[in-house]
Amino acid sequence: MYINKVATKDNNLTWHSCVITKKERAHMKKQNPCIIWLTGLSGSGKSAIANEVENLLSLKGYHTHLLDGDNIRHGLNNDLSFSDEDRSENIRRIGEVSKLFVDAGLIVLASFISPFRKERQAVRDLVGSKEFLEVHINTPICVCEQRDPKGLYKKARKGEIKFFTGIDSPYEDPINPEITIDSSKCTIKQSAEIIFQHLIDNGTLKSHRSKERELLG
Ligand SMILES: Nc1ncnc2c1ncn2[C@@H]1O[C@H](COP(=O)(O)OP(=O)(O)OP(=O)(O)O)[C@@H](O)[C@H]1O
Ligand SMILES: [Mg+2]
Repeated sequence: MYINKVATKDNNLTWHSCVITKKERAHMKKQNPCIIWLTGLSGSGKSAIANEVENLLSLKGYHTHLLDGDNIRHGLNNDLSFSDEDRSENIRRIGEVSKLFVDAGLIVLASFISPFRKERQAVRDLVGSKEFLEVHINTPICVCEQRDPKGLYKKARKGEIKFFTGIDSPYEDPINPEITIDSSKCTIKQSAEIIFQHLIDNGTLKSHRSKERELLG
């Protein structure tokens, strides 16, 4: 179990301000940094859609980064379990990492089940509502279970995985997400385009940006 050592004034910590500001870093990238936070059940399509959005952004020359649930648990968060407490810590750390990338001027795609409202709200509060776009991938659980891309629902139904979101652990629907997508009703590409269009409409992206990604290698 993770033991939280709260940093207090007693730890003799002092914040050191950077000479180059977040605004200047974003200006260098010629983009408005933000977090696009995809939340939803396992198999709802978060990773598939996040990758397609990143592809669209990259084609237009935007500098992005994608943070994805399983990948983060392979490294930074490999000490955390799936207990409620550790799930909270998982999201808290991801929020902090996302904020660092936003400070660096990047557009961050974060694809995490993130089942609890409180934790998602904490990330929103951390970066500020203007730079946080909550995307609820609201795909019916029967469709997610039918897809079962990792075979996890099958294991959860057999009792081989405990505390599986949607089966024996809760998923708290977002109350007021910026975007809701039911991926059983549209293709991956259509979902990505809905998010991309929202970013143009809210001013995060410039509609006229035409730079194409340079092909590497
Ligand atoms: N319309 C669609 N939208 C999204 N995914 C779809 C769609 N149709 C089929 N799929 C497939 O469903 C699967 C969704 O799995 P994906 O890994 O994206 O889910 P996830 O929400 O990231 O799950 P997890 O939380 O377990 O990582 C993929 O294999 C994807 O190709
Ligand atoms: Mg995923």
